[in-house]
Amino acid sequence: GIDPNFERNLERTGEEHDVDVWGPVEPPEKLGVRGTHVAVDFDICLADGACLEDCPVDVFDWVDTPGHPESDRKANPTDEDQCIDCMLCVDVCPVDAIDVDPG
Ligand code: SF4
Ligand code: F3S
Repeated sequence: GIDPNFERNLERTGEEHDVDVWGPVEPPEKLGVRGTHVAVDFDICLADGACLEDCPVDVFDWVDTPGHPESDRKANPTDEDQCIDCMLCVDVCPVDAIDVDPG
């Protein structure tokens, strides 16, 4: 699953789709962790979609990631500022790709 200490262990390399990018990244195969309060490890996400369906405040959007070995689209935490820390997405993701830090 996603490293809960990604902010310490990875480096912020920039921003894409309105959220921070934590890398290193080497597109299209290695995309790193996306977002900070709601963080999705794009290299683990396999586009299950449960997070998009279940988030009560629609934090996530699909973004296309052609050429990535796990899936050709990912759940981007575009509206992470809206997150109400319900932790549903963390619970439903089948591959533990999401980390939410309440508070
Ligand atoms: Fe949405 Fe809840 Fe996940 Fe926040 S913790 S992104 S509100 S499902
Ligand atoms: Fe990806 Fe997990 Fe959502 S696999 S689409 S982050 S439920």
